[in-house]
Amino acid sequence: MDNLDINKIKKYKTPYYYYDTSLLEKTISKCLSIANKNDIKICFSIKSNFNEKILKIISSHPEFGADCVSGGEVKLALKFFKPESIVYAGVGKSDEEIEYAIENNIFCINVESLGEIEDLNNICKRLKKKTNFACRINPNISPHTHEKITTGLNENKFGIYLDKNENKFYEKIKEIYFNEDNKYSYINFIGLHFHIGSQILNFNDFLPLCKKIDEILDKLNTLGISISYLNLGGGLGVDYENPKLNPIPDFEGFFDIYLNNIKSLKKIGNDFNKGKKIKLYFELGRSIICQSGNLIAKVINVKEGIDRKFLILDCGMNDLIRPAMYGAVHKIEKIEKNEEEEIYDVVGPICESSDIFNKDYKMGKCKKGDFVVIHSAGAYGESMASRYNYREIPKGYLDTEFL
Ligand code: LLP
Repeated sequence: MDNLDINKIKKYKTPYYYYDTSLLEKTISKCLSIANKNDIKICFSIKSNFNEKILKIISSHPEFGADCVSGGEVKLALKFFKPESIVYAGVGKSDEEIEYAIENNIFCINVESLGEIEDLNNICKRLKKKTNFACRINPNISPHTHEKITTGLNENKFGIYLDKNENKFYEKIKEIYFNEDNKYSYINFIGLHFHIGSQILNFNDFLPLCKKIDEILDKLNTLGISISYLNLGGGLGVDYENPKLNPIPDFEGFFDIYLNNIKSLKKIGNDFNKGKKIKLYFELGRSIICQSGNLIAKVINVKEGIDRKFLILDCGMNDLIRPAMYGAVHKIEKIEKNEEEEIYDVVGPICESSDIFNKDYKMGKCKKGDFVVIHSAGAYGESMASRYNYREIPKGYLDTEFL
């Protein structure tokens, strides 16, 4: 990113996303080298970035699968990834979406309620197609991240709430697993799915989850139920403050916290889980693509306020909604460096007061026409862009296609 050539930058109409493919490759290879060593499967979370040029790069590594949350994402994933490496979760899947996933033989549907299991079973019966499914469990554990990206608490809509339904849950799984009255011949229970939140940097937050997973696996074991799939979701955070210092997230620490603290993983081979190995899956989005993506914008104006200066950019919350939606702070820099600094409220042109990137933010002094880069915008940037204020969706370019 430091070698951005201003003459090339200027050729493209701002705002646009710019991806550093060599950093992406380095990130992927770091992630996969640790995952492969530990027989971990990584599914890329398509929601974080569905730019097809990015998906092409990620899927060129055959170890990657895809994690989807809508029929549309499943359709897109099928263009790049093998069906047997695609998983599909979602708190509200329509019958059509479920049907589409089944018809296309994806690997696993992660169901989020007991009712959804019945729906899945009915659809599979109707289609006469057998499907793997796993249960997404809401473990009621806080990841201490932003409330809007917390997903595993009782107050959140995601997953099956064990606190209230524990007996019902185990009864249902037993009924399906042993299938004594042949009611569930078309669905195959393969395991469990968890995802407690995103942008998690303190890995100790995963410790209560590991304990909970052990409790559930112990219980399944006493019921004589074995699993082959344990999907631990995503959540690995990145350094938004110092993207240049920490361009690659701590994959090792993240995987290790689970590998070292889920005791059940070490019990396999004895009487536990019928001696069968449990394969770990992770659904990583942010940690793979965040630091490789940048939003390039141009200064429209520097406006003197009463007691502040507004740096008005030509990109807004429709291009990158994270600051407005989660109060996220992305590092912003002027591309052509200068010594002089200034404190700005960096804002976009959208007709909303919340269209602010950073408040009281110190950066290189800018004038109209200068180019700026908003860092760490590869995840949930382009994929969350909208046409609000009837603006264009920003384009995304790879560094390799920059002329
Ligand atoms: N698996 C499930 C079930 C998820 O819900 C998510 C993200 C992931 C995996 C991927 O998590 P990651 O590795 O990216 O942390 N728009 C927000 C983030 C929303 C995350 C939604 N779920 C943001 O910009 O911070």
